Amino acid sequence: MNIWVINGPNLGRLDLRDSATYGDIAYADLVAFCEKTGKELGHTVSVFQSDDETEIIHLLHKAADEKVPVIINPAAFTHYSYAIRDAVAMLKAPVIEVHLSNPLSREEFRHTSVVSGVVNGTIGGFGLNSYELALRAISTIKAR
Ligand code: DQA
Repeated sequence: MNIWVINGPNLGRLDLRDSATYGDIAYADLVAFCEKTGKELGHTVSVFQSDDETEIIHLLHKAADEKVPVIINPAAFTHYSYAIRDAVAMLKAPVIEVHLSNPLSREEFRHTSVVSGVVNGTIGGFGLNSYELALRAISTIKAR
């Protein structure tokens, strides 16, 4: 299976973010982890990151056109981007929302995900293992 992992704003600078929340990792570690885990599971994983809402939406359009399964960490866009929600809703193949942290145990503004309603499932709170759990789950989802 060819799977796209799409990461939203500020995840490219995990080295600068609060390590108590996100772990002591850099974005390169996230990419290497997803590629290695995907390979072990027999998948080809392409990992993207953008701080730009438009760029993420265009990637989602491409994924919809090509019917590619998507694992997405929309980062802060999770909480307010109806445009990303609408683009996720167009996906034809399975899509899983992931978070490194558990947004529900953090500030109140993070308790809302405008994306959760249009994904197959959401995994959060397990650090990099959130991505592994999503990579394991995505091939078990039959259709949307
Ligand atoms: C995040 C949680 C979001 O609330 C936050 O804005 C992020 C990262 C996570 O992976 O835990 O940037 O999506």
